[in-house]
Amino acid sequence: MDIRPRRNRKSAAIRSMVEETQVKTSDFIFPLFLLEEPRSKVEVDSMPGIYRLGLEAMLQEIEDCMKLGIKSFDVFPVVNDQYKDKLATRSYDTNFFYHQALKKIKQEFPEAAIMTDVALDPYSSDGHDGIVQDGKILNDETLEVLGKQALSQAECGIDIIGPSDMMDGRVGYIREVLDDAGFTDVSIMSYTAKYASAFYGPFRDALDSAPKSGDKKTYQMNPANQREALIEADLDVDEGADFLMVKPALAYLDVIKLLKDNYAQPIAAYNVSGEYAMLKAAAEKGWLDYDAVMSETLLSIKRAGADIILTYHAKEFAKL
Ligand code: PBG
Repeated sequence: MDIRPRRNRKSAAIRSMVEETQVKTSDFIFPLFLLEEPRSKVEVDSMPGIYRLGLEAMLQEIEDCMKLGIKSFDVFPVVNDQYKDKLATRSYDTNFFYHQALKKIKQEFPEAAIMTDVALDPYSSDGHDGIVQDGKILNDETLEVLGKQALSQAECGIDIIGPSDMMDGRVGYIREVLDDAGFTDVSIMSYTAKYASAFYGPFRDALDSAPKSGDKKTYQMNPANQREALIEADLDVDEGADFLMVKPALAYLDVIKLLKDNYAQPIAAYNVSGEYAMLKAAAEKGWLDYDAVMSETLLSIKRAGADIILTYHAKEFAKL
């Protein structure tokens, strides 16, 4: 008797019946970049098809996406240099344009899940995720700012707080600050295994948030390490994280699988800016079929074990 695996591939009907993985629009969180000027709309050079949006344009974008079945959004602020300082004080100023916009977004779309990033880099004159002193990134001093930042976002009605800074102990610290203030319902999606990756370049262009000196290797993880992700995940689970995230996604599919196999928490993967840019650039040159490689990429991230995908492809995929 011959075992013939091709029998299960012989028609579209049978192939779809035995298909193991599906990507749905409800799996996505769509990252958005907010500009201060309400009516502006500026494309990100290194991310064709992705725009920095003023509040009015962003409300329209969210409405369009909701109609396509995308219900979750991660909103990042583009902060002008004049607002940046060493201690990232605007990061917890509820009068800042970002916080005011977050409130408005939640008022207009109470049914959407809105996520925000917690880290100092967009608001820091040093462009680092923590406080810099004599070239060092201070851990425990940074926690205090992160706590204030998370609290200020919760006060705007944010559903999910995403600590992306990789300071030690931040998930537990933020959980305590939120709980003490009565925000026990606000979720934490921890950037659990966030690697010191070169794939964040286009994002830093979009936000103008690149480090002014040095790199992020003393806090973000070494791309060579897999087992270390288990240490980070153990801590995040103990400290009360509701979701565990791996970032980037494509070059770290093994880490996604590792966390999926070892934890019951939902696993998120951040299909980052550089991963988006690669496909766009190759497609612009006519070297790859964009829709096909986009679908295959998202499928691979889900197949590796991601329950949730943060991706700039969200809207284009939903339109397909
Ligand atoms: C901020 C932050 C970064 C990204 C998400 N949050 C940049 C960084 O850590 O340098 C990257 C997202 C992307 O590349 O799409 N800490």
